Amino acid sequence: MKITVAGAGYVGLVTCACLAELGHYVTCIDIQKEKIEMLQNGRSPIYEPGLEPLLQKHLQNGTLQFTTDSHQAYSNPEIIYIAVGTPEKEDGTVDLKYIHVITHTIAHYIKNDVLICTKSTVPVGTNDLIKEIIYSRIPSNIKAEVVATPEFLREGSAVFDFFHGDRIVIGTDNPEAASIMEQIYLPLKIPIITTDIRSAEMIKYASNAFLATKISFINEIANICEKVGANIEEVAYGIGQDKRIGPNFLKAGIGFGGSCFPKDTKALVQLAGDVEHSFELLESVIKVNNHQQSLPILKAKQKIGSLHNKKVALLGLSFKPDTDDVRESASIKIAKELIQEGAIVRAYDPIAIPNAKKVLGDTIEYAYDIRFALHEAELAIIATDWEHIKHVPLDIFHTFMEDPIIIDGRNCYPLREIQKYPVTYMSIGRANVHKSG
Ligand code: UGA
Repeated sequence: MKITVAGAGYVGLVTCACLAELGHYVTCIDIQKEKIEMLQNGRSPIYEPGLEPLLQKHLQNGTLQFTTDSHQAYSNPEIIYIAVGTPEKEDGTVDLKYIHVITHTIAHYIKNDVLICTKSTVPVGTNDLIKEIIYSRIPSNIKAEVVATPEFLREGSAVFDFFHGDRIVIGTDNPEAASIMEQIYLPLKIPIITTDIRSAEMIKYASNAFLATKISFINEIANICEKVGANIEEVAYGIGQDKRIGPNFLKAGIGFGGSCFPKDTKALVQLAGDVEHSFELLESVIKVNNHQQSLPILKAKQKIGSLHNKKVALLGLSFKPDTDDVRESASIKIAKELIQEGAIVRAYDPIAIPNAKKVLGDTIEYAYDIRFALHEAELAIIATDWEHIKHVPLDIFHTFMEDPIIIDGRNCYPLREIQKYPVTYMSIGRANVHKSG
């Protein structure tokens, strides 16, 4: 089929590369010229494992093209995916300005019957608004249908997730539109859930809110474990074996970040508020998460007092491993708090330093090697569980730090292992390891 994807962000790019891989002819449009030029030259503007080779493959075989030209992109596709950003406004509500602009643009340029599928995460009711705008602006001889197709990809494994997701959700009241969408996704052999538009929109928010709740729940259990002498890893394993609970998203740490959970949880609280429902559970989830992100600073101050002029190695800047995304990253928050406390920070990350620099500038020093970050540091804070960090030889801490104090916000090392080294080690929901000898 001829498909256009509007928006070359992480959702848009993964969608267009993977749809081309499924055999469709895909045009990806974005208003950012430099981004499109980069993509036309086969380079991905984001770090996402497996994405760049897929983009290059389909650029070369002619099934994928990139453009900034609306006429070229919208005049005759059979399907248009909307994958533009829906950022957060200052009050926590969703900013739909890009959705409005793209909807008006699509309405202006379409010349043939088309299915418009919304991949962007949008509050319940937004697809009805998109419908209204489209229907009020297109000529009566063109048939356009709007379908909600929420996205469940995770950054860092988005290409894998596209082909191996748990479900596809299609929200439409039109059986013909549902059948076309089912044809697109049938080759993936992933269960397809067809529902009405508003339920599809809600499935997206409820999924992210539930996963965020699981994380804040396990983090609260971790905080209690620390006080009662239990071990969160053992507890999480023990409860995760119950099939009704499941083992995933029970990893305690310094909370959730990224472009989705923090934004979507706030948006759902707002959405509930709009219909006069106070979503107290989710409000607590957000509150717990904010506290969790500050834990390394609290633990550091408890251990060494003032952080003024203390040399701190911050390991990991991205909000999770395998991505260069630092949006709402706990690490960025920690870096800012450390600076406020007067600490001297040197941060390591294998991929995310360029993006972190855009936020933190020269308020901290950057290290492209873990050893350089640790060199002469008095405190090391682990903020992201990159494989590079998890598998580092543990003797580097005492080799490069004089009297190592490690605060591990992601429980990267087994306690049995770390106990073999002359370090003070504090993690989340587990006993502290005190330097021996
Ligand atoms: C999340 C969802 O998992 C995707 O299904 C969804 O499509 C996406 O948001 C979105 O709405 O676009 P993502 O933000 O890429 O995906 O990352 P996750 O792997 O879900 O992790 C989110 C945060 O939770 C990270 O900061 C991670 O470190 C943290 N986390 C995750 C934990 O602290 N513990 C866990 O057990 C799992």
